[in-house]
Amino acid sequence: MQRTLVLLKPDAVERRLIGQLISRFEAKGLSIVAMKMLRVTPDLAKQHYAEHVEKPFYPSLESFITSAPIVAMAIDGLEAISVVREMLGATSGLKAAAGTIRGDFSSSRQMNLVHASDGPEAAKRELDLYFTADEFCDHTSVL
Ligand code: CMP
Repeated sequence: MQRTLVLLKPDAVERRLIGQLISRFEAKGLSIVAMKMLRVTPDLAKQHYAEHVEKPFYPSLESFITSAPIVAMAIDGLEAISVVREMLGATSGLKAAAGTIRGDFSSSRQMNLVHASDGPEAAKRELDLYFTADEFCDHTSVL
């Protein structure tokens, strides 16, 4: 069992896709064990995207990710980290395969609707940025 961080980004919230996107994760058999809506601050953006802060696209990424509320979720499941990343598709909506979230809903490299942790270390670090230990509602289902 793995736990990963998923963010529904400002474009997902503004396009009213929250329900459809959550449905995809639930339909796959993944479990949401924590969820909140919040506005990312510039400080949180710099922590979350620490590896990108020096990149040329970072100023634009920070303006985008702080532009409207996001939905942060902790998602549990077997191999959840790679399963969720597969469901998202390639970073750019222009390159993402049909059938993936970005392939079906995005035509942008930056406004790609959803973020998900790319490995176990990133998942732990990112989950700690958005949730405290008492906010996880662990539950398991055999269904
Ligand atoms: P995400 O999976 O959240 O990880 C980093 C984010 O930076 C990525 O999704 C995009 O939103 C954004 N991003 C990555 N590459 C570029 C780029 N070349 N130009 C603009 N935004 C980018």
